[in-house]
Amino acid sequence: MAISLSGLLKRKAPPLLGVDISASCVKVVELVDGAKMPMRLERYAIEPIERGAINDGAIEKPEAIGESLLRALKRLNTRTRDVALALPSAAVITKKITLPGGLSEEDYELQVETEASQYIPFAIDEVNLDFMVLGPAPSDENEVEVLLTASRKEKVEDRVAVAELAGLRPIVVDSEPYAARLALDHVSSFLPNHGQGQVIAIFDVGHLVTSLTIVLNGQTIFERDQAFGGNQLTQDIVRLYGLMPEEAEMKKRSGELPDNYGTDVLQPFVEQGSIDIARALQFFFTSTPYTRVDRVFVAGGSGVLPGLIEAIAERTQVPTELFSPFQGMEMSEALRERQLRQDAPSLLVATGLAMRRFHG
Ligand SMILES: Nc1ncnc2c1ncn2[C@@H]1O[C@H](COP(=O)(O)OP(=O)(O)OP(=O)(O)O)[C@@H](O)[C@H]1O
Ligand SMILES: [Mg+2]
Repeated sequence: MAISLSGLLKRKAPPLLGVDISASCVKVVELVDGAKMPMRLERYAIEPIERGAINDGAIEKPEAIGESLLRALKRLNTRTRDVALALPSAAVITKKITLPGGLSEEDYELQVETEASQYIPFAIDEVNLDFMVLGPAPSDENEVEVLLTASRKEKVEDRVAVAELAGLRPIVVDSEPYAARLALDHVSSFLPNHGQGQVIAIFDVGHLVTSLTIVLNGQTIFERDQAFGGNQLTQDIVRLYGLMPEEAEMKKRSGELPDNYGTDVLQPFVEQGSIDIARALQFFFTSTPYTRVDRVFVAGGSGVLPGLIEAIAERTQVPTELFSPFQGMEMSEALRERQLRQDAPSLLVATGLAMRRFHG
């Protein structure tokens, strides 16, 4: 198995599933070659996982997650068994370093190992190291910038073990932010001037966490996680209406809740989300040289909550839209359009992973 956290691995992969193991569910996406467009969404599945099976990104109950994966595979009805997995950003350390230019691959590997020990707070034999030469260093043309990526081996092994429990074969392990960026780059390529020169922020509003990535010209310039997500809203519903969590989860999606839900529960939640998001952008402005964001995309399962997009646009004064990673792709006729519209934003990471089939 190749560990390729920064996308170093260059190979034309055979059929591949993108598998996102996250706080609330497993998500599996399969992309294939399109007839008229480069990519086609062939199938996807989202299966909930037992509560507590994942805690703070750590796999607590591998069997329970393996079961969810098996259910997802059954629904997918695919023969593909090779998969790309992702590690949460907290399990990955990335660092930009500067090295002399023109070294051989082996020399870079050696240098990276030596340098890495300075930045990584674990023993070097406990981590998977990877690196990618980004290009000439801005300060000195004889040097190059290198992106170094390190992940705890045990975190990788935990996820690989879960996939194997479900009979899958992990081929690639990326980081979640990297996978999200692949999907974002694809969608940005449809923007005017292919999105060049635009500062684009994407908020992945999930179950427990909202992850922000800001990109300019295909490079990530800012990343930040916040503790905000749909779980809080489910908990509010549980408390207020005395429902079981599963029931609350279902009714949150269908909206079949008492009349005061909209004004007393949903609206304050959406308000809080937009405040947190505006603050994250403020923090970006104060902690970097950048002074503007041109576009905000909202992804994640909670991105579809009624009123959220509008509240963010209002508070940030930045054009804001819901993100679908499937823009510019063909769709299998078997997919249900309405359901897909609801699910697409939450498939950001799984789709980025599935794209590894085309990106090598
Ligand atoms: N149609 C919907 N309407 C409202 N909320 C939804 C809908 N679909 C999913 N959600 C909510 O979105 C959250 C799941 O989103 P997502 O799959 O992006 O999170 P996750 O990746 O599991 O979690 P995290 O990113 O925090 O690790 C859940 O809280 C779920 O209730
Ligand atoms: Mg997520």
